Formats: sequence, C-alpha cells, structure tokens
Amino acid sequence: MQVLVVGGGGREHALCWAIAVSPLLGKLYCAPGNPGISSIAECVAIGAEDIAGIVAFAVEKRIDLVVAGPEAPLTLGLADACAAAGIKCFGPSQAAARLEGSKVFTREVAEAAGVPGAKWQRFDDPAKARAYVRAEGAPIVVKADGLAAGKGVVVASTVEEAEAAIADIMESRIHGEAGATVLIEECLVGEEISFFALCDGETALPLGAAQDHKRVGDGDTGPNTGGMGAYSPPPALTPALQAQVMAEIVQPTLEEMSRRGTPFKGVLFAGLMLTEAGPKLIEFNVRFGDPECQALLLRLRSDLLPALFASCDGGLDMFDLNWDATHSLVVVMAAEGYPGSPRKGTEIKGLEAAAEVPGVQVFHAGTARRDDGALVANGGRVLAVAGTGKTLQEARDAAYAAVDAIDWPGGFCRRDIGWRAL
Ligand code: AMP
Ligand code: GLY
Repeated sequence: MQVLVVGGGGREHALCWAIAVSPLLGKLYCAPGNPGISSIAECVAIGAEDIAGIVAFAVEKRIDLVVAGPEAPLTLGLADACAAAGIKCFGPSQAAARLEGSKVFTREVAEAAGVPGAKWQRFDDPAKARAYVRAEGAPIVVKADGLAAGKGVVVASTVEEAEAAIADIMESRIHGEAGATVLIEECLVGEEISFFALCDGETALPLGAAQDHKRVGDGDTGPNTGGMGAYSPPPALTPALQAQVMAEIVQPTLEEMSRRGTPFKGVLFAGLMLTEAGPKLIEFNVRFGDPECQALLLRLRSDLLPALFASCDGGLDMFDLNWDATHSLVVVMAAEGYPGSPRKGTEIKGLEAAAEVPGVQVFHAGTARRDDGALVANGGRVLAVAGTGKTLQEARDAAYAAVDAIDWPGGFCRRDIGWRAL
C-alpha cells in the first residue's frame, strides 16, 4: 500500500509514526511533512491546502490512501477531489466537513439528532443578540459562526463582557465574515474532554478520549492556544460514560448526517463537557486533535491502517482495536511569543538525548532544517514530547525528563500538564 499523509504538524508526525509500522505499508509520503516526519516518510513539497497538487501527486504515485490531518483541506473538498480521481481519502466530504466549518450547522444537526448540548440561539442582528444576553444574564458564551482560528469563542462572566464580544465579533468583525452570524449559548460547567470515533458513514468505532490544555500558561491562565499538552485516558471517562457518549452523541449524529445525504466518514472529534446532567456536546471537529492525536496513538496496539481503510470502505463494525493499559501524556514545546508572534529560527539541540528516555516519543510540529543542517524553530507549536507509563504520573515523569533533556533556550512549555488528574 502507498499512503500519503497530508499536513506537517505534530498530529501528522504521530499519524505517520503509527502508519509506518503497518505490515500493509509499502511506501509512505507526507505533504508537506517536516524534518521529524522525513525520517519515516518521504516528504514532498506540496502545501496541505493545495488540493489540485495533492490529487495530481496521488494519481502520479498511485497512492492507495490519502490521509487528511488538518481540517482545512477537508473543508476545501480534498476528499471529494480524491474521489473524483478514483483515490481513497480518509476524511469527510466537503459537505460533511461543515460539522467543523459552521457552528450553526453543527447545532442544527445536533438538535435534529437529539444530541444533548447547551441551550442556544443564533443571531444575525447585534441589537437582538444584546437583548438576548441581557435577558439571559451571565455567565454566557458568545461564538462566531464560522472558522476563526480557534479564537471565535468568548466565555463571558458578565453581561458587559458578552456585549463587548458581540460588538467585536459582529460590528468590528475581528474575525471577518466568520462573525456575520453569532451563536449565544448557555455556559456549561464540568470537565472538558476531547472524544474521538472513527466513522464509516454508518458505524462508529470509539477511539477513546484525551484531555487537552488550551491556555498557554500554568494553572490554565493566559490566552487560548491550539493546545499545550494532553493526556489519555482521562479518568473521568469511565466505560459506562463512553458507551453513553457513543449512544447519545456519536451514533445519532452519524444517523442524522446519513439522513441528510451527507454521510460522515473519517474521525469525528467531539468536544464534550461532562456536566452533572451527563455529557453534553460543545463542538464537533472533523479530524484528530493536536496534541490529542499524539496522546491517543501512543496507546494504540492495533494496526491503524486497516481501520483507516475501513473508514473509507465501510466495515468498521468488524473492527475491535486493542489499546494498551498504559497512560500517555504529551507536553507541547512552543516558540517564545506563541500564541502571538512566535520567534522563528532559534536552534534546538538535545533531541537524541530526549529520545533515549524510556517510553518517550518526540514528535516534530513546527521545525525546519537550517542550511547547515541544524534543527530550528519554524512555527508556534514546535515539538510534542510524549511519554507513556503504567500510571499517569509515570507518563508525566517520562515526558518531562525528555523535555529537560532538550536544549532549546528559545522555547517554553507548561510545567503542569495533567494537573487536573494528578
Ligand atoms: P470551541 O471553539 O467551540 O471549542 O470553544 C472553545 C472553548 O470554549 C471550548 O473548548 C470550551 O472550553 C469553551 N466553550 C465553548 N462553548 C461553551 C459552552 N457552551 N459552555 C462553556 N464553555 C464553552
Ligand atoms: N487540541 C485541540 C484541537 O486540535 O482542536
């Protein structure tokens, strides 16, 4: 089998790492990849959003499966373009990828499917949005409808804060057209987890969950990021709760997407709040989380590749994936300045020493090779240092031992990943 992974971050490094050990694999390519990925796959200089370029390459190399890492190529129609060229693609069609592209669409699907979630209303008129916020009171959540690079959500603790968010999003259009419509939601309280299921349009196979750390600073302080660390499994997700999430959230959503003529294939990522009244949906994404993917795949014992094929072809009902009884914990190392303007070009040393720590994998995210061969920072989130262990504490100790072996004065990380569970 020839496989092409699309993307070049830590999530794609972990996907390549898991696919590379499959006995079914012939050759692995990654577009565009990164220096870490280049040690296990042939990296090709095609951007993850260059749909025509990816499809042309896949046709030329007779690729058996294209695996989409990030959401952007999927929302641009990568899976549809692959299908038109007779190539299989792991990931949903453009129509099904709207589950990530539009929050209003997600809430409409969830409501039609009877999926539990926050009480919500949509508004195209800022005056009506303000009146609603005043009537409901705080805390309350204001969200831009469209994609806003993960920054379109304001959890407002006062009515004034919510009104300011309405002005910023709808009137000043700080997220552009993504803010033409807003959703105003009830504020849910509880533990937040990222839950994943492989889907073939009809059947869903649970992959379990991870807990992300969205804020940049220790103790969950400072601005939101793409994720500064994750661990798996989250202790809050009991087997009974997982069965409830599958029955009340994942399966009804698949059925509703099929009813609409846009069956969902790929990985469904449900952001959930575990409230006192049970699990409630916050959002869907149509791809693996980053760094949740790294945490999950470290615990997978089964061959991932056949399950990715089954997600395209159907037959996931015949699968039963095996997971290690171990724990995993991922620490993201970011370049100074992230999530604002990260400093590029600072040199990173000591990765060999880090990789020698037992139970550790170092995934590259935003790295590059300088002309002289040195490894340098080339993005916001630069490395994802992942540890495994028999307990979460052991996984954490391994990950931080590896972090401490890395010599990178231009980078930083949170020192408290996993604190909620420890
Ligand atoms: P989203 O971009 O939809 O993932 O939202 C970003 C973050 O805002 C989530 O990870 C939650 O922590 C928080 N959030 C979103 N919606 C709600 C809600 N209805 N209640 C409480 N927190 C929320
Ligand atoms: N870590 C959250 C995400 O990938 O969206």
